[in-house]
Amino acid sequence: MAGPWRSLAEVRERVSSVHHSSSLSQQICFYDDWAQEYEQDVAVLEYRAPQLAAACLASASPAPPHEALVLDVACGTGLVSQELQRWGFCRMHGVDGSKGMLERAHRKGLYQELKQCILGQEPLPAPTDHYDAVIIVGALSVGQVPSSVVPELLRVTKPGGLVCVTTRSNLTNQPYAAELRGVLDGLAQRGLWEKVTVQEVEEWERATSAQETAQGSAYIPGVIYVYRKCGAPGS
Ligand SMILES: C[S@@+](CC[C@H](N)C(=O)[O-])C[C@H]1O[C@@H](n2cnc3c(N)ncnc32)[C@H](O)[C@@H]1O
Repeated sequence: MAGPWRSLAEVRERVSSVHHSSSLSQQICFYDDWAQEYEQDVAVLEYRAPQLAAACLASASPAPPHEALVLDVACGTGLVSQELQRWGFCRMHGVDGSKGMLERAHRKGLYQELKQCILGQEPLPAPTDHYDAVIIVGALSVGQVPSSVVPELLRVTKPGGLVCVTTRSNLTNQPYAAELRGVLDGLAQRGLWEKVTVQEVEEWERATSAQETAQGSAYIPGVIYVYRKCGAPGS
């Protein structure tokens, strides 16, 4: 167990520093350093994304959850798989850029496979058309994983399989969120996947900057998208 819990102000300061990391390697170092206290800190932020996204994926999932092979991208310490397990998912692989985060995820004992992968720099370490579902939570946002990674999520998903992605809709992430929507819509227009669900969430997590709280709420909003890859299952 890490030391005493930090105050909201201290957690906000830490989170804002990731958004100011200039290079990909700086971001990954930030997460290596954060791994040990990540779960305590996001609890202070009332971060609900893993639980909301897992529920969304579970309700869209056509197959019995215990049969589905799921890839948790940017898995961090494994909060998403912990939530997926509550819904009956038990075949889970994870990837993340941070060794520190992967070590914490490994301790959960929920993943059959965990691999390091720097998204935006290298392809996902998985074959094409491999997973029944691919999920990425809390990582598609400004200063983290680029939206150009989304086609790679689609590539490793089986035809008929689901891709669940989340982003924040707060002020500072709005340009990124618009760019992400463009990528999602573009793939739909090309007939590569179809939209299954969009869930807008008002209270995604507590605001992490004074600028955000000035918008009139102590919380920032977020959104969850679920898409189904086109093509017949098993094709
Ligand atoms: C906010 S955490 C989210 C973790 C987990 N999905 C959750 O919801 O708790 C973001 C994760 O993305 C990973 N990450 C950020 N940028 C990355 C990149 N370019 N490549 C791979 N992983 C990255 C970090 O190491 C971190 O574990």
